[in-house]
Amino acid sequence: MISKDEAEAILKKHGQMHLLNHFDSLDEQKQKKLLSQIENIDFDLIESLYKKAGKKIDTSNDEISPIGYLDKQKLYDDYKKYENIGAKLIREGKLAAVTMAGGQGTRLGHDGPKGTYDIGLDSHKSLFELLCDNLKEAEKKYGVRVPWFIMTSEENNDETVEFFKKNKFFGYEKDKDLFFFKQGQLPMIDTEGKVLLNEDGLIKLAANGHGGVYEALVKNGMTKKMKEAGVKWAFIGGVDNCLVKMADPVFIGMAEDKGVTIACKSVVKANPHENVGVFCERKGMPGIVEYSEISDEMAEAVDENGELLYGEANILCNLVDVGKIEEIGSEPLPYHVAYKKASYMDENGDIVEPDSPNAYKFESFMFDAIERSSEIGILRDTREDNFAPVKNADSAGVDCPSTAKALYEAYQEKLKNQDIDFK
Ligand code: UTP
Repeated sequence: MISKDEAEAILKKHGQMHLLNHFDSLDEQKQKKLLSQIENIDFDLIESLYKKAGKKIDTSNDEISPIGYLDKQKLYDDYKKYENIGAKLIREGKLAAVTMAGGQGTRLGHDGPKGTYDIGLDSHKSLFELLCDNLKEAEKKYGVRVPWFIMTSEENNDETVEFFKKNKFFGYEKDKDLFFFKQGQLPMIDTEGKVLLNEDGLIKLAANGHGGVYEALVKNGMTKKMKEAGVKWAFIGGVDNCLVKMADPVFIGMAEDKGVTIACKSVVKANPHENVGVFCERKGMPGIVEYSEISDEMAEAVDENGELLYGEANILCNLVDVGKIEEIGSEPLPYHVAYKKASYMDENGDIVEPDSPNAYKFESFMFDAIERSSEIGILRDTREDNFAPVKNADSAGVDCPSTAKALYEAYQEKLKNQDIDFK
């Protein structure tokens, strides 16, 4: 580990000397931790991100056009073909599930990791348990257990693992078919580009966004485990969609048959102005147009059948080839900047609790990876069977626990009434 003098030299070079202002008042353990943080932070990266912070990215010149997709309801003969291919892959143990559960869940406002949230079902199952039920159904149907990889953050890892332990890992076995791994972090900076200190005198770090999943899977040896187990496809999804289908044979079969390395599920936008990103082509490559980026004209444009031209909503349901994860993970995705409220320790050692945003946080988005593939497979699936997000508190009235509960119950009812097979 570097010495205090070496740390000073690094910080001087980058104009961050204030980080050692309170060094002498820290205990020995914290001093070591701070020196190790300084040693490991890429200050050049932080400087380049600061230069971009606050600047709006001009996407007006990007050539955006609609992207092709397959509709699961209109696959006709291919439906069975894909289903058979996918089912065989699952049976052969070629599928793993990755759940990204490192987010802060600020909009939901739950005190604890989002996956531990009870959406109010009679069973009082948590989001983690609902997801696990989906994997157990697959196990029943295909006779194999899909290994489950859960991405946590430095902030919520211990509480997440403890929750699983309390629930006997929902029948899974930790470190055999259930693995926890932590995502990376980046420092938060103020509007002058100064790295912030936390209440404890250490550098204030924040999770680096769900795009950190690729790098974290590689760095923590998870892709190695997958390859050793013969896994080819990883389903990567969020923790907050209680209707997510992690082992959908048609989706997997389509990806395999098309020979792509990334496949994404979409659902049709609820309305032209729904706050979701949509799939598109950008300069001839697959891409996403964020809802904040899309013009009214583009959002409302329809084709000759009256369908939205940009109507394929991204629901964070992806299949990624394990080799592709390693490729993406070796070169981090671009970072996006968010302006957030963050408490910090000022130069006098006082804790400041701002009541409006004061700091930049840097996050990468997992779907930015699709821009690194010349071709991806997009499968449109039905919204009511695939998408029940838990984003907001109930007071928001949309994408909240009560709407997710209603959607989940309606789906269960549909399964019962139509005697539909698990999918
Ligand atoms: P969101 O972008 O909706 O973020 O994450 P969030 O943390 O759940 O909620 P807000 O924005 O703070 O209210 C979508 C999925 O990606 C995961 C989340 O846990 C969720 O499953 N995620 C997000 C991570 O795993 N790490 C991150 O750094 C961010």
